[in-house]
Amino acid sequence: MKRAIYPGTFDPITLGHLDIIKRACKIFDEVIVAVAQNKAKEPMFSFEKRIELVEKVTQDFPKIKVVGFEGLLANLSDELESNTIIRGLRAVSDFEYELQMGYANASLKKDLDTIYLMPSLQYAFISSSIVRAILSHGGKIDHLVPATILSDLKA
Ligand code: PNS
Repeated sequence: MKRAIYPGTFDPITLGHLDIIKRACKIFDEVIVAVAQNKAKEPMFSFEKRIELVEKVTQDFPKIKVVGFEGLLANLSDELESNTIIRGLRAVSDFEYELQMGYANASLKKDLDTIYLMPSLQYAFISSSIVRAILSHGGKIDHLVPATILSDLKA
């Protein structure tokens, strides 16, 4: 059973995240989407809402499980019995942060590997922060987030 963890703040989940989830499902038997509480980031959407939105978007994906977590990803990987982390990599600008985080996690648990997947080019510019910025000005986000959660986000 090949199991991987796809962690993130998902504030909110975007079409870019969904693209990575679909790619991960082609490689692994089970992918656990782990929504971080991440109080330090002061998310726009509550922890509960972010989990609910990820669940809604992935409800028809048989290989996906969704969990919320607090604390270290390295500890979560023990609990979930998976040493594989999935992260999306869009542009060079992501690389430094991802490299540092990957090494930090490996320094806490040497068996922990991070696999980086690239989204389709059409999603490469999408980020949760772009969605939040457009949303806060009442702009159009239909092309950035899954249609199933559009009304939740606008509400
Ligand atoms: O979507 P994000 O905000 O880029 O995700 C970042 C996340 C949640 C993966 C990262 O902040 C994280 O792993 N948080 C848990 C705390 C932790 O383990 N930190 C040590 C590694 S830097």
